[in-house]
Amino acid sequence: MRILVFSVILVVGAVFADEHWWQHANFYQIYPRSFKDSNGDGIGDLLGVKEKVSYLKQELGLDAIWLSPIFKSPMADFGYDISDFRDIHEKFGTLADFDSLAQECKRQNLKLILDFVPNHSSDEHEYFKKSELKQDGYDDYYVWHPGKVLSNGTRVPPSNWVSVFRGSAWQWSETRKEYYLHQFLVKQPDLNYRSESIVNEMKDVLRFWLSRGVSGFRIDAVPYLFESEAVNNVYPDEELSGKTDDPDNPDYVVHTHTQNLEETFDMSFQWRKVLDDFKAEHGGDDLVLMLEAYTPLMNIIRLYGENGREGAQIPFNFEVLSNTFKDSTGKDFYDNIMRFWNVLPSGRFANWVLGNHDNKRVSTRLGVPRADLYNIALNTLPGIAVTYNGDELAMEDVYIPWSETVDPAACNSNPKDFMLYSRDPVRAPFQWDDSTSAGFSTNSKTWLPVSPYYKQNNYKLQKSAPRSHVKIFKSLVRLRKQRTLREGGFDMKLVDEDNIIVYKRELQGVSTIVVILNFHKSTRTVNLSKVFTGLPLEFEVITSSLQTNYVDGSILNRDVITLPADAAIVLEGTV
Ligand code: NOJ
Repeated sequence: MRILVFSVILVVGAVFADEHWWQHANFYQIYPRSFKDSNGDGIGDLLGVKEKVSYLKQELGLDAIWLSPIFKSPMADFGYDISDFRDIHEKFGTLADFDSLAQECKRQNLKLILDFVPNHSSDEHEYFKKSELKQDGYDDYYVWHPGKVLSNGTRVPPSNWVSVFRGSAWQWSETRKEYYLHQFLVKQPDLNYRSESIVNEMKDVLRFWLSRGVSGFRIDAVPYLFESEAVNNVYPDEELSGKTDDPDNPDYVVHTHTQNLEETFDMSFQWRKVLDDFKAEHGGDDLVLMLEAYTPLMNIIRLYGENGREGAQIPFNFEVLSNTFKDSTGKDFYDNIMRFWNVLPSGRFANWVLGNHDNKRVSTRLGVPRADLYNIALNTLPGIAVTYNGDELAMEDVYIPWSETVDPAACNSNPKDFMLYSRDPVRAPFQWDDSTSAGFSTNSKTWLPVSPYYKQNNYKLQKSAPRSHVKIFKSLVRLRKQRTLREGGFDMKLVDEDNIIVYKRELQGVSTIVVILNFHKSTRTVNLSKVFTGLPLEFEVITSSLQTNYVDGSILNRDVITLPADAAIVLEGTV
């Protein structure tokens, strides 16, 4: 079986019925603080996003955007610490601004998805304040415990659980004289999903935003929703992993009691039901769930739904993101695709993610020369594409020194190691043009510094250049709307020392699209008739990586397709 994979495995073509708006959409993630500042305070905002709806819809041709959190927050984790789930953070605007953005999206037919952060709130949320005071009804909204008292009388946290952002996951409250659980920052106490009231409150939050016209949610930190319960008032310790002897490092323990508990799946299915019930009651288009879960693939598959219960349409597939590196070979990338594709349950849709606000940018992590190759792959593989804002321009991370670092994940480390953890570089302002602050803000001081190279790489420049990353991206999004990519089969092979991937998307009677991804560090020539039988004799170039000399629309013979190092091409032919 393994041997087959090396050269000529045939993936059975699947033909998809074209039923739902999200099945083939490209979902574009906007990090609102850094996208567009409308009022010159150096921080991006909702009216800034509104100004750019035409860019997103008319120019890029996208179907949907999802916004990282825009809610009221003390910003300890830049909005992932919410102090009012039903209101907008003042720096982003007002509820009225939100409504006007939602209206504009509706007018231009761009679906709007919000980030739902159910695992935790801010410690400044009124729920927490009331729970800390043990107010009636709020007592169990969070996970509280008096801790353990050692034989010498010292009080210590209830268990050895470690927070994602380093240190004990338990924090002592002087007010309540108990510890509370926080799987993330001290300022992000975990909500208690064993409390029926919390479950209901959070479902109401979903309904609140659905009533304001959103088309769904990206759900944050799904694996962390539940923890093992205390037995006889004792929380179980997690086993030591042996990976590090630093007890503050989240890798110190194996997270069997704090991640991926069985109840997590049920909760996700309940949220899907809230969306389906809302649609049944109010009509309209499908409402979608995208789940953020860095978890083994078998859990991702379960999150689609099981035992007759529907889950998320889009549990993010992080297989390619987590396992693709600068020096990845064609075979590595092929395996990353196939690992997911081979276990995708029938009737479900694949999704492909390579970037987000928590990981280094695609161009930085995987190299600018391959930026187009990965955009080509993401947009031509079967199913849903997810794009992080700026990746259409091959924007790169911006170096931000320790003195200007604001991300808590980095600030909780030290001046030597912070770059390993910092998410600031991927969150630097969007590069619109060559004016002040790259056209992101009229203010020369922005919340994170703008790239020093913005005059060499920005949207305005790429728009006027004869060929550019963004022009390639636009061709891809346009192509996705055609039937062949939406409904066509998928057949992928590995050729030329397993370092070139070739795949065919074919729809009988319509067209055959062939994609070639060259992972070699040298120019190579592919003879397509040796890869697939029954292909058209000639193909039209739809688009290709910037480093090729191909002209879009030109015709190529299928027997000699030459590609420079790290380049990719998309071809279309009719028999
Ligand atoms: C995942 C989010 O993507 C990340 O930015 C955040 O810090 C954590 N969840 C905590 O909410």
